[in-house]
Amino acid sequence: MKCRRCKAPAVIDVRRHNAAFCQDCFLHHCREQVRRSVEDHRMFSPQERVLVAVSGGKDSLALWDLLRTLGYQADGLYIGLGIGEYSDTSGTFARDYAAANGLTLHEVDLRGEFGFGVPEAAAATRRAPCGACGLSKRHLFNSAALEHGYDVLATGHNLDDEAAVLLGNVLRWETGYLGRQHPVLPAAPGFVRKVKPLIRLGEREMAAYCVLQGIDYIVEECPMAAGNRHLGLKEVLNSLEDRSPGTKAAFLFGFVERGHERFAEATESDRSALRPCTSCGAPTPAEICAFCSLRARATAPVAVRPSR
Ligand code: AMP
Ligand code: FES
Ligand code: ZN
Repeated sequence: MKCRRCKAPAVIDVRRHNAAFCQDCFLHHCREQVRRSVEDHRMFSPQERVLVAVSGGKDSLALWDLLRTLGYQADGLYIGLGIGEYSDTSGTFARDYAAANGLTLHEVDLRGEFGFGVPEAAAATRRAPCGACGLSKRHLFNSAALEHGYDVLATGHNLDDEAAVLLGNVLRWETGYLGRQHPVLPAAPGFVRKVKPLIRLGEREMAAYCVLQGIDYIVEECPMAAGNRHLGLKEVLNSLEDRSPGTKAAFLFGFVERGHERFAEATESDRSALRPCTSCGAPTPAEICAFCSLRARATAPVAVRPSR
């Protein structure tokens, strides 16, 4: 196998592109894919300040590294979700990367600042933890970016993540979610702009990027995410991709280019009908936002049955 760009011996193949690369050309390929996403979708300019949501995993650490290498101003945000040892370890990877590169990492600790972690939230809602976890993350990403005056918030969602979410949304015809599934969600009153610069890169490419760049990341998956339905959707897409490389990218990019706008209008009007949460000020269709009501439930004293 020879590198497509320079003909040196290749270290990795990318079947979707029908290509193989040597180390330097693979890193160049990753930077090019991110540069294209950022420029094609006008995610942000070099003058804008980007806040990267960093989980300590491969995708978000690679994203932070790629944005800095491309010359963007990018700081990090780590959220401690209170998931025992998993959260402690993932926080260490995020902090170590920031310290080794002299970067600013903001931190929010869910239990320390709001009195509950994801396990308590899941117990209070009696639903899969990922729902309460995702809701808390989205709320805290937005409030931290606004509080510290960033122009845009970037997450490490990659091609595999986004294709799986898209398939899930299509299978259930979740038109509201389809209207919001785009690499760029523009800012609106009370909402910072949100972007996903890794949509042109797959999971395997991100792991290879970290290994080749010497970035240490948490390999374990979240212990609460077992049974997460996206894992099944990823398996289905992987088997389609095996038979026909490029399927995932065609599915996702076709939607972004030709499908999304058909669902977007309804989402715009949803967003304009919001008012500030009476507890925290975040935009919400109700009196109290979903995060504040989750917090109230998760921190409510547990009713103890009287003993006889
Ligand atoms: P997930 O929701 O776990 O699939 O993660 C998607 C993206 O959200 C990651 O690539 C990160 O950008 C961000 N993220 C996930 N967990 C955290 C966390 N604890 N702190 C900050 N950002 C996170
Ligand atoms: Fe959210 Fe595990 S990271 S439930
Ligand atoms: Zn609120």
